[in-house]
Amino acid sequence: MGIRLQTELCKIFQIRFPLFLAGLAGGPSTVKLVAAVSNAGGLGTLGAAYMEPEAIRNAIEEIRKLTDKPFAVNLFAVHMSDCHAGIEVAQLELNRARDELNIPHATMELIETPDRFAEQIAVLMEQKVPVISTAFGVLPEPYMRQAKAAGIKVVTMATTVHEALLAEQSGCDAVVAQGSEAGGHRGTFDVSIHPMGANIGTFALVPQVVDQVRIPVIAAGGIMDGRGLVAALALGAQGVQMGTRFLTAIESGAHAAYKQALLASTEESSVITKVFSGRPARGIRNGFIRQWDASGLEPLPFPVQNTATRDIRNAAAEQSNADYMSLWAGQATRLLTNGQSAEAIVAQTMEQARALLL
Ligand SMILES: Cc1cc2nc3c(=O)[nH]c(=O)nc-3n(C[C@H](O)[C@H](O)[C@H](O)COP(=O)(O)O)c2cc1C
Repeated sequence: MGIRLQTELCKIFQIRFPLFLAGLAGGPSTVKLVAAVSNAGGLGTLGAAYMEPEAIRNAIEEIRKLTDKPFAVNLFAVHMSDCHAGIEVAQLELNRARDELNIPHATMELIETPDRFAEQIAVLMEQKVPVISTAFGVLPEPYMRQAKAAGIKVVTMATTVHEALLAEQSGCDAVVAQGSEAGGHRGTFDVSIHPMGANIGTFALVPQVVDQVRIPVIAAGGIMDGRGLVAALALGAQGVQMGTRFLTAIESGAHAAYKQALLASTEESSVITKVFSGRPARGIRNGFIRQWDASGLEPLPFPVQNTATRDIRNAAAEQSNADYMSLWAGQATRLLTNGQSAEAIVAQTMEQARALLL
């Protein structure tokens, strides 16, 4: 049997095309982007990890005004607990970045990251969102049961076969296999085992996951067009999840300076770094990464490093200074297009895939 674009995944998630928009937490994810991908026949995903519960509720209501198609909401399934060891030294180092941006030094009060997961997930259940997707771990058991009872589909992102098996055992309807090419955070569950993330390339990871799990596999990492989609399907995936490609879409909320950096970047530009959040993530190497790396300090663990660097990232955005923003990006950025709508990106990708399969 040849490669088909209408896969079982499409049936399960009630979508026309086997193409998921990645949850793009931290700015790029807008309700317009999510709805546009869903309206175009893919599955839009709201990257809601850093959003207040009330903001998530509002965003879901907005999405529903813009589309009657299925969509997903993505959260970080991880316990937010701050470990403050080393914070004073880290703040002194971060003050050097604050000096560059002319913003006040950190007060030496202890940082507190609120753990909103329970409230966030309660909103998703209350709103009966069509799909919940998670990164960094599986949906804890009681929530999985609630989701199933409400008819909500659940997807988890995995970076190893072992994690994919855990996702399957937890009751996921599909699993995203995230290769090391991927932009943004490594989905790796246990960073005490893999401090810089499990970094298996998409081509190596996807078929090994496909051979080991029975649920549909969605390939992610470096997939930018119809070639990537067809290659993923040839490896046995039933669909793809694309993040970086949508960052330069018209509907993307990525900062203009970030979009510019993406369009100027190449396959050599990104590194996996913990300096912005404390968890490994792939982004374009910029001044902040260079400055921190030169200090020789170990970043604080997630989420403290993330909370500690927030004022710097916010000031950088206000000042349009891409050197101090987190420029998450995958390795295939030469394949980016500028100024396309999300609908055009989905349509072009599907058209390219169809042409390859003729
Ligand atoms: C800017 C950006 C933000 C991301 N945020 C999230 C997120 O909030 N949740 C998540 O599960 N994955 C997130 N990812 C990772 C994606 O799910 C996906 O694995 C990745 O984008 C695939 O590789 P690609 O960027 O080469 O398409 C993010 C990726 C990028 C580029």
